[in-house]
Formats: sequence, C-alpha cells, structure tokens
Amino acid sequence: MMRKLFVIGIGAGNPEHVTIQAIKALNEVDVFFVMDKGADKTDLVRIRQDICARYIEDDDYRFVEVKDPARDPAAPTYRTGVDVWHRQRADILQRAITDELGEDQTGGFLVWGDPSLYDSTLRVIALMQTNGIVAFEYEVIPGITSVQALAAAHRIALNHIGGPIHITTGRQLRDAPSPDADNIVVMLDGAGAFKAVDPTDITIHWGAYLGTDKELLVSGPLHEAAAEIERLRSEARARHGWIMDTYLLRRRET
Ligand SMILES: C[S@@+](CC[C@H](N)C(=O)[O-])C[C@H]1O[C@@H](n2cnc3c(N)ncnc32)[C@H](O)[C@@H]1O
Repeated sequence: MMRKLFVIGIGAGNPEHVTIQAIKALNEVDVFFVMDKGADKTDLVRIRQDICARYIEDDDYRFVEVKDPARDPAAPTYRTGVDVWHRQRADILQRAITDELGEDQTGGFLVWGDPSLYDSTLRVIALMQTNGIVAFEYEVIPGITSVQALAAAHRIALNHIGGPIHITTGRQLRDAPSPDADNIVVMLDGAGAFKAVDPTDITIHWGAYLGTDKELLVSGPLHEAAAEIERLRSEARARHGWIMDTYLLRRRET
C-alpha cells in the first residue's frame, strides 16, 4: 500500500470549470491539504469548499489546513527566496502527510486553474519525492486556466494566425516593457505593469475575477483602456480586499 496524491486543477473561479476527470478524482480523496494564505484569500478557500460540497457524493473527506510559510522578502534574489520557500513548504507538507494521511489513503491538492501555470504545487511535490521521507505516488488532473477563461470571456483566440503566444508575469513585464512578441498574456501583476508599455498599436483585453460573479472585463486600445482598468482595479481591491486579474496585450496584426 502506498499513499496516493491527486493534484487537481479546479479551474479559475467558476465551479462549472471542474472537469469530469476532476470530479472522479475529488471523489477518491480522503484528505484535502490546503495552504492557508491568510484572511484576504478566504473567498478562494470558500470556492474550494463549495466545489467539494457540490461534486463529492459522500461526506467522508476532510480538509487539513497547512500553515503557509512566509516568503522572505529580504532574500538576496527573488529566485533564492522562492527556492527556500519551496523547501520550507515541502518540509511542512511532508509532516502533514505523515501525520494526517494513512498509508492506504488518498490526499488531494486543489490547484487554482491548472497546476502547470504559475503554481508551486508540482515543484513542492517533486521536492518531497526527492527527499524520500514519505513515500507516495501522484497524479495530475488538468484544469481550465485563467488564460483560457480570459480568452473565452472576450471571445478571442490568443494567437495571430500561426503566431506564437508569450505568457509572462507583471514583474517580468515591468522589468522589460517592450518584449519582442505580438501577443503577451500577463499574469500575477500586482502593480499594473501595462502602464509601462508603449501603447502604440496595442490593444488590451483585461479580465478580473474571471468566472466568478465579480467578473470584470475591459477591452480596447491600451492608451484609452489603461486609465479605466486602473480605476476598476483600485475600486475592486478596496471593495473585495483582493484582486486577481489577467490580460492580453496584442499588437495590431500586420
Ligand atoms: C498564482 S497564479 C495561478 C494561475 C493558475 N494556476 C491558472 O491556471 O490560471 C495567479 C494568477 O492567475 C491569474 N488568475 C487566476 N485566476 C484568475 C481569475 N479568476 N481571473 C483573473 N485572473 C486570474 C491572475 O493573474 C493571478 O495573479
């Protein structure tokens, strides 16, 4: 008998993003491990609990909250800070799995969107497996990403015909605001990095809280839409305490 873990993509906010494959996996899980991200993210914990209540047929599962270690903002580089943080997460999770999951039981991680995109769960699990302190097998169930939710909400394809798509973060865009790409999807942007981009010939398709009842959408030429997006972002952040937004910057097709 070996412990089994499911890493389950749950979609980006709409419970109907959850796939049938994910529902089957949810129903096999005995213990869900949840990283506690503090009070302002309680909506996200609630959405996860709603998904379980909605799709799991029995009530023989439980949630175990795992305290998320704080990332050290004083680390010499962003990368070193993240590496240390992943190791700490692996240590804490190893302990939680050993203590809370029987050897013949199944654990679950509910990952926002899809685990392949800007999420540390798979790295942390790979670290745990390398450490070899607790033995387990694991399987990944894909989910709808916020990028797909954005494209669907705006009814657009992400690429120009036969062209590439560049997916990046607000931090990267701020550091290099003129990447050599015609279609750039930006995630994890706390500070409105689109303001640093030269708006000539650029259209923005922006979405916040995609798939939820708080969803906000704006699209238009960057030089016109930027101020409106800024206003909506700060209003929404003040009203809800948190914001998650994603956008596509698109250069006019020539
Ligand atoms: C840590 S990343 C996780 C991405 C996730 N794994 C995915 O597949 O979408 C979080 C970022 O995803 C984007 N995001 C996630 N859910 C979103 C939503 N419902 N609406 C808009 N952006 C979202 C935001 O850019 C946010 O900063």
